[in-house]
Amino acid sequence: MKTVHTIKELQAALSTLRKEGKTIGLVPTMGALHDGHASLVKRCVAENDVAVVSVFVNPTQFNDKNDLAKYPRTLEADCRLLEACGAAFAFAPSVEEMYPEPDTRHFSYAPLDTVMEGAFRPGHFNGVCQIVSKLFDAVQPHRAYFGEKDFQQLAIIREMVRQMHYPLEIVGCPIVREADGLALSSRNARLNAEERQNALKISQTLFESRTFATSHTVAETRQFVEEAIAAAPGLRLEYFELVDGHTLQKIADWKDTSYAVGCITVFCGEVRLIDNIKY
Ligand code: PAF
Repeated sequence: MKTVHTIKELQAALSTLRKEGKTIGLVPTMGALHDGHASLVKRCVAENDVAVVSVFVNPTQFNDKNDLAKYPRTLEADCRLLEACGAAFAFAPSVEEMYPEPDTRHFSYAPLDTVMEGAFRPGHFNGVCQIVSKLFDAVQPHRAYFGEKDFQQLAIIREMVRQMHYPLEIVGCPIVREADGLALSSRNARLNAEERQNALKISQTLFESRTFATSHTVAETRQFVEEAIAAAPGLRLEYFELVDGHTLQKIADWKDTSYAVGCITVFCGEVRLIDNIKY
């Protein structure tokens, strides 16, 4: 595996491969890689001739400076994992490389980006679209891989690709969980032992709510989740929404959609965790 830091170097290498007819897959990441990322990279490696993984903590998607400062940065360990997964390139640019001047582009995909994370993290998805579009322009992949844990992000990126006519396929990959159910996240590294234990209640509640939902209304299911998280030690619910998985709009009745998804964001101590489940 080759680690490159500039767009020029990456494009020079990729253009040779492209001319040889090779397909290129991209996995955008912010590093601090875990088995969830590994599953994306392995799928990318299996489905493309060349797998490029970007490792870049994107400042424009952080609406909280503290969160940006605390985001784990572990490039050496990340490169070891990427090499083991079979990636061809780790692309680890500097902030100056990706943003030589401030990015003034404004991406708006309302109502997809105004609900849930969009409402609680103003500007977040604009920053995500800025960096992901720059990565698409730089790499020009045939396929790009994103995790379903960031369910809303995946829906917005699909919409961006549709509206901007990017000639590539977006591949959504299932959430990877620890054996006890906790969804893998780079932020889990910030949980102490007690918080890690408390955080388990998030996925447990989601799993239980799926059974509960089979004999209860949407409103009752929402209440079930809200009460379970409120009663759990060390957790603070930011939101739980039952939405249509395509439009991300709230549903009032199970009959409103054949693709109901529950999206949750919970503070576990200071760490903000997200998860989701399909009903
Ligand atoms: O999901 C992430 O890790 C980031 O939002 C992404 C897609 C790599 C853009 O910075």
